[in-house]
Amino acid sequence: MNEKKVLLIGDGARENALAEALSNNKVFAISSFINPGIKNVVERTGGKYFVGNINSKDFVKEIIKQVNPDFGVIGPEDPLFHGVSNAFYEEGIPVVGPIDKDAMIEKSKVWMRQLMWKYKIPGRLRFKSFSNLAEAAKFIIDYGGSVAIKPSEQVGGKGVKVVADIQAYLSNEKRQALSKSVDEIGKYVADDEVKVIIEERVDGPEYTLHVLTDGSSYLSLPLAQDYKHAYQDGIGPETGGMGSISGPKNLLPFINEEEYERSFNIVKMTAEAIEKETGEKYKGFLSGQMMLTDLWGPTIIEYYSRLGDPEASAIIPRIKNFGEILELMAEGKLSKAKIDLVEEPSVVRAIAPYGYPLNKSLAKGQKFHIDLQKIKEKGCILYFGSIALEGNELIAQGSRALELVAFGDFDEASKKLDECMAYISSDRKIIYRSDIGRTINEMVEKAEIVRYAYKNREKHGILGVSADWSPNGGLW
Ligand code: GLY
Repeated sequence: MNEKKVLLIGDGARENALAEALSNNKVFAISSFINPGIKNVVERTGGKYFVGNINSKDFVKEIIKQVNPDFGVIGPEDPLFHGVSNAFYEEGIPVVGPIDKDAMIEKSKVWMRQLMWKYKIPGRLRFKSFSNLAEAAKFIIDYGGSVAIKPSEQVGGKGVKVVADIQAYLSNEKRQALSKSVDEIGKYVADDEVKVIIEERVDGPEYTLHVLTDGSSYLSLPLAQDYKHAYQDGIGPETGGMGSISGPKNLLPFINEEEYERSFNIVKMTAEAIEKETGEKYKGFLSGQMMLTDLWGPTIIEYYSRLGDPEASAIIPRIKNFGEILELMAEGKLSKAKIDLVEEPSVVRAIAPYGYPLNKSLAKGQKFHIDLQKIKEKGCILYFGSIALEGNELIAQGSRALELVAFGDFDEASKKLDECMAYISSDRKIIYRSDIGRTINEMVEKAEIVRYAYKNREKHGILGVSADWSPNGGLW
């Protein structure tokens, strides 16, 4: 047992996975409710569990003074946006997680896009930002090409709308409907001057590359893919992620070694650009939520200033020495880290209460019953997410409650997950997707088409050069 003390911030399944990975240390944690999985690690390792506002710098500082940890680990983005990482540094404690200035790469999509253009980072998309929503709707109509409209700030992957067939918007009614949806998207960032960002639309298989840096060295993790849509076969509203896959080895079956290297280079260039822009070294996870597109090959859709969730649940248990890697990063010795990887893939299935994601008040309060012993015997790992231990009961908090993980070839792991699901029940219906890990061939085919197109562009020297079919395309 390593006698180091670590203070972990956060309350989701990603933080449960982090707590397990850190369990060679004494784990102290701050969550906004009692997460049963984190509680178990804290008790096993002789730490202490605090419940409170994880976004309050003052509250976290008080706990840092009480615990005097050797290092800290911050899981979610909100504490980073609120300067909780700064609180650690102000108390002289190293931490995994960027300071607020650097976390702008995730907080503001406009800041991110401007940075990518200023420093000519490959994989960038054309964009426009608007504070006036009527002007935003007009721009879309005038432009005439396909676009993605998003809230200008990070709001947990929600509110994204794609306008692909502009012909469908030529009637007055449809134009009004479009203005209404732009208004709706604008509401996600009610306090901000810039409300929406419009980006040129791209298509292709998505994947996430997480890179850990201590400001000098960079360590890129195995790829993962997040399944964003709520319901089976990728339909329904976007969520934080209903499941994920990772592997085999460092890759995914539809991303090759060269594309992995290019993706890594994009993320590294971005970390260096952030330092030039803010004057502060980026320290923590910088994660590219990427897409293989015909425009660029590897392309940035968004950045996270942390590990993705549920991507983290697919990756962390595959890295046998993840806790040590985090410690090395915090100490500024990341150059010494080498990943000890389980080569076989993993599949993660998120489980949410009925009502998620559209009706959170219906979803909150649902009781779950779990036979943890049987789940282990069947070879699955269970991480607790948005579910609290209240007395002896497991009560859903309104978001994704559990993440179930299995190793093996994608089919084999998916079958294991089916078996383990038998030991999770609730008095109401539960929401999950059993197709996760079962759509690999489709993704491989999609990637082959896109790869042919971007390689062709590259051959002709037009990688990243947009060609608008619209006569009004000069608007960007
Ligand atoms: N998987 C999406 C997110 O972490 O935001």
